[in-house]
Amino acid sequence: MKKIPFLDLSSQYSSIKDEIDAAIFSVIHDSAFVGGKYVEDFEKKFALFAHRKHAIGVANGTSALFLSLKALGIGEKDTVVVPSMTFVATAEAVSWCGAKVCFADVREDDLLIDTGKITLKDGVKAVIPVDLYGKMVAPEEILKIAEDKNLHVVWDCCQSHGAQILGEGKISGAGSFGDSACFSFYPGKNLGAYGDGGAVVTDSQDLSDAVRLFSNHGREGKYEHAVEGFNERLDGLQAAVLEVKLKYLDSWNDKRRKAAEIYRERLAPKGLWMQKVKDSDSPSFHLLVIQHSKRDELSDFLGLRGIGTGKHYPSAIHLLKAYSGLGYKKGDFPVSEKAAERVLSLPVYPQIKEEQIHFVCDSVEEFIAEKGL
Ligand SMILES: Cc1ncc(COP(=O)(O)O)c(C=O)c1O
Repeated sequence: MKKIPFLDLSSQYSSIKDEIDAAIFSVIHDSAFVGGKYVEDFEKKFALFAHRKHAIGVANGTSALFLSLKALGIGEKDTVVVPSMTFVATAEAVSWCGAKVCFADVREDDLLIDTGKITLKDGVKAVIPVDLYGKMVAPEEILKIAEDKNLHVVWDCCQSHGAQILGEGKISGAGSFGDSACFSFYPGKNLGAYGDGGAVVTDSQDLSDAVRLFSNHGREGKYEHAVEGFNERLDGLQAAVLEVKLKYLDSWNDKRRKAAEIYRERLAPKGLWMQKVKDSDSPSFHLLVIQHSKRDELSDFLGLRGIGTGKHYPSAIHLLKAYSGLGYKKGDFPVSEKAAERVLSLPVYPQIKEEQIHFVCDSVEEFIAEKGL
């Protein structure tokens, strides 16, 4: 069996090469590098895709989170709740605003924020639910807490492009909830640019205007700067690439779902932890994660067979050196801490072949037969 990479962006490119090449050529031909029609067209299409009134293209997912918080007026006196199992960027965005991060542990069955563990001290102004691995956080609980406690909700959808959830008789997509929802278009994402990119989606005209203002040097007109802003814009080349890829996102996600189904059928009966998915969930399967007590050994074992794997994430956020100043310690968020030692992401992408998935599953089964769970 040939190598099975953790991610295969080159075969994705081959499948849409002509369209991508033409899109890139057009941007260069039109010299529409920063702002301009390619960014505007993509923003319109992405707002429709996310069923929101506005989409603002920004530089990356971290800036989408940061600009949302900033536009909501979050600052030095405020605290923002973040799950302790996520990519560091979720917490970084809070610190960029000068606000304080307050972590909350996640649930054992799906590693999504445990709403029962959210501490609502004075100064908590917002919460950032994270659709980890592409499974949407159930909106009811978060929105209820937000309403009761008057909190802003900035949704981290950086892993859930195109995910869906059924609730109250209606299907909703990732990005539908919260004051704003934030997407990353980092190349390996389900919708990935050829460089960095991100977007904020919202229904609020005021929030949309404020995010746009802050992302573009606080500029209202040429050399008219209403506030001190930042340079956090999406560029034209990325927007043109994203517009091509957006057309394929739903069908690519369906292929990921089929791949995930095979993994689940093969591995769940063996007793391995896999993220709990209810009938009402249709995740984007950005990542396909299992847990094992000898995670590093399993990763090496698969590596020797040419199978690429990842660890998302090998440390709970509160234990990272970067957050040592916040005073958290080992044992504060036991579910995240245990998961961080055990999680292993297996290859999942639209182009992965069935026989490759079976080879990965055969290899995992062989390891379990030898070493147990
Ligand atoms: C959950 C989560 N939040 C935020 C980000 C930040 O996105 P970016 O890398 O585009 O800044 C990522 C990207 O990996 C992510 O996975």
